[in-house]
Amino acid sequence: MRPIPDRKFILASHNKGKLAEFAELLEPFGYQIRSAAELGLDEPEETGTRFEENAYIKAFTAAKATGLPALADDSGMCADALGGAPGVYSADWATLPDGKRDFSQAMEKVEALLREKGGVTPEARRARFVAVLCLCFPDGEAEYYRGEVEGRLVWPPRGSLGFGYDPIFQPDGHDRTFGEMTGEEKHGWRPGDAQALSHRARAFKKFAEARLA
Ligand code: IMP
Repeated sequence: MRPIPDRKFILASHNKGKLAEFAELLEPFGYQIRSAAELGLDEPEETGTRFEENAYIKAFTAAKATGLPALADDSGMCADALGGAPGVYSADWATLPDGKRDFSQAMEKVEALLREKGGVTPEARRARFVAVLCLCFPDGEAEYYRGEVEGRLVWPPRGSLGFGYDPIFQPDGHDRTFGEMTGEEKHGWRPGDAQALSHRARAFKKFAEARLA
């Protein structure tokens, strides 16, 4: 496997919630990480229709700009009753005309659409979070790690921790939403653990086992 030179790579993200989670997940490993936000790199347009495509766009843009390998995460919440929406458009559903993001409004939109579809039973409220990590080298060579977590959408939103759609997502086997869990609880994983909970931690576990061990 192609090595990561000098244990240095870029985290190709400007999303504060994701960056905080990656900082926690990466903390036990001795890698020198800088984020695209810290380095003032431009945010590329996410023109793909699959998580893999957008993860590649972000990772390759940062790797090309810096000459270092870059790790990007493309993720989203997929509601079964909405045909998998908002999916890769999860951030767009929260974006206001002035470019700011409002997740209360995005969660209300999801809830209104679910009700239109008759989404009142737990079965009709099934959803999953998906995260695809792409590690890309400056010449464009890339590898992918995917994580998913199943659960259901609750209403009203609960909890003020986490970010994005966390307050309405209750993972299977738990009675709290991601918005009511600390980062540590949401990840549900430390190096060496056999299982992880969140989509991001499940994808990161595969990346860490392949790349950081
Ligand atoms: P993108 O990957 O930057 O296009 O944006 C992913 C969007 O999906 C985020 O802005 C959130 O809206 C949503 N999302 C992804 N992962 C999570 C999560 O762990 N919790 C809550 N929302 C998430």
